[in-house]
This record gives sequence, structure tokens and C-alpha cells, in this order.
Amino acid sequence: MGFCMTKGHGIGFGKAILFNEHFVVYGIPSIVSAIGNYTVAKVEVYDKPGFKLVDKRPATPKYKEDKLDQQKESFELMFKKMGVDLLKKGVSITLEGNLFAASGIGASAASCVAVARALAEYFNMTLSDEEINEIAFEGEKGYHGTPSGVDNTASTYGGLIWFQKGEKNIIDRIALSNPVEIVIGNTGKVTDTKAAVDGVKQRKEMNQKKYQEVFDRAENIAYLAKRAIQDRSFTNVGKLMNENHKLLQQIEVSSRELDFLVNIARDAGALGAKLTGGGLGGNMIALTPGKELQNKVATAIEKEGFQTVKTVIGASRESVEHI
Ligand code: MEV
Repeated sequence: MGFCMTKGHGIGFGKAILFNEHFVVYGIPSIVSAIGNYTVAKVEVYDKPGFKLVDKRPATPKYKEDKLDQQKESFELMFKKMGVDLLKKGVSITLEGNLFAASGIGASAASCVAVARALAEYFNMTLSDEEINEIAFEGEKGYHGTPSGVDNTASTYGGLIWFQKGEKNIIDRIALSNPVEIVIGNTGKVTDTKAAVDGVKQRKEMNQKKYQEVFDRAENIAYLAKRAIQDRSFTNVGKLMNENHKLLQQIEVSSRELDFLVNIARDAGALGAKLTGGGLGGNMIALTPGKELQNKVATAIEKEGFQTVKTVIGASRESVEHI
């Protein structure tokens, strides 16, 4: 470890999975985007050994309390991976930024990436994005157990990404000339990604034939969606998102609240809508190119008493460089 700076500072993007959460755990390609909202981490000296956490992120009620143990484990995993020793001199870590701490929008990954970057700056380590991504992946294990790596990848690199887990993950940028508006709708339900992933695993083992068919279609959708995005054919992207949601319902990771918000968004004119992230609650995403459609869909969801975030897919690092 080198000498310490007086302050370290880093950001990590929130994310929205456009295609194939859960399927991605089994090596099916997924499409994920960083969103315009992010978490900022600040690291400063602390006069005791260990670490102190000051969490100022806006959050879904109960999210922070429910995740506290997992968050601490996640930090410990990252300290270990980075070779950070806090026995003599501790650090104070402050989390803030405009990303809601909620299930499904990459809150855990964004905080892992932000903290990894801030610690690297504080301890004067020069790390590549690839190394930051590896550290954040380690941190994600505190929350998920066996994450695919899709969330931390979007949080690290920003933009729109084709991600396929493998012996060596395939991480390809999908070009999108301008960011596209989306609405994220929050069911307000905090969920446990690990439990959702474990549930799919059990059901997949018990219904191999049915699940194989669903997984094959999910794979097919990823390729069709990539082409539709590259062609800026958002009507087709939306239709494929709707179909992807159906597949997620079939593997039983949707919920009554998610289906309700998905239907409201579609009725209000969204080109497509689906759950995003681990499911069972958490958040959904609606594709709403243009500010007018975005406002219309967000208003329809808010009228039913649910919180929304109006943001974009395809947000780049450069777009938040001033932070
Ligand atoms: C969670 O955001 C995405 C999941 O596919 C889990 C993972 O990929 O690690 C449900």
C-alpha cells in the first residue's frame, strides 16, 4: 500500500438490465445499461481502526437496514482483494449521489465500484477499469453470493453493454449514438437477489425441459435485441422487452406489483416494459424514447402511488465527469 491521500473519491453507475437477468447467470448473453444516476463514495481518514460508514444515499424504506450486514461483508471482501489493512489506521466511507438505494437498479454494484475507486485514490493505487471491475465483483459477492458480474460491469464502464458470463466474460460495447429515455418504477419492495437466484436454480433443476425451452428463447431474444438497438428500431426493442418479461414470469421471478407497474407503463404508451434486476419486487423499466413519452409514463405510475426515476440508457462516464 502506498502513502495515503487526504481524500479519495469515486463514482459507480446505477444500471438497468434490458434483457436477460437471471438467464445471464447460466451464460446466456444479456444486455445491460448504465443509467444516468450514480453513487459517489468519499474516503477519509478515521481516527480508529476499521471503518466507519456514513450512508447518505436516498433509499427505499428499510433497504439500508436490510442490507447492512451484506454491505459490511462486501466492504471486507473488497479490502481483502485490494490488500487494504485498516488495523492501524481506519477509514471513514461516505456514500451519496443521486442513485436510489433500492432493489434492481444496481445500488449494490454502484456502491462497490464507487468505494473501490475511492479507496484506490485514497491509497494512491493506480488501477485500470478492469481491476476496479474485478474488485467490485468481489464486493458483489457480499450481496449475491455468486453474482454473474453483469451489474458491476455496467457500473464500472458505463454505456450500453453486451455481457456474457464465461471462463472469460465477454464484455462488448453496443454503440448508441444518443442516450434514450427510460422510466424506472419502484415497487417499494426490498428483495434479496440471492434468494431470487437460488429459487430459479431449484425450479430449473425440477423442470429441466420447460426451462430449457425458455432459456433457448431468451438467448435468441438477446441477439434480436442487439440488432434492433443497433438499428435504433425502438419499437422492436420494446416488443422484445415485453417478451423478455413473459419469460421472466415463466421462471417465476416477477411479482404482482411488478406486473401491475409493467401494465400501467404499457397502457400509458411505453414501447416496452419489464422487470429489471433480481425481481420478486424491486424495480421495473419502461422504454420511453423522448421526454414527452417519458413524462407521460412516469406520471401514470406515480398516480398509482409508486415512485419513479426518469433517466436514460447509454449514460457514459464522460457525461458525469464533472462530479
Ligand atoms: C441482478 O441484478 C441480476 C441477476 O441476474 C443476478 C446476477 O446476474 O448476478 C438476477
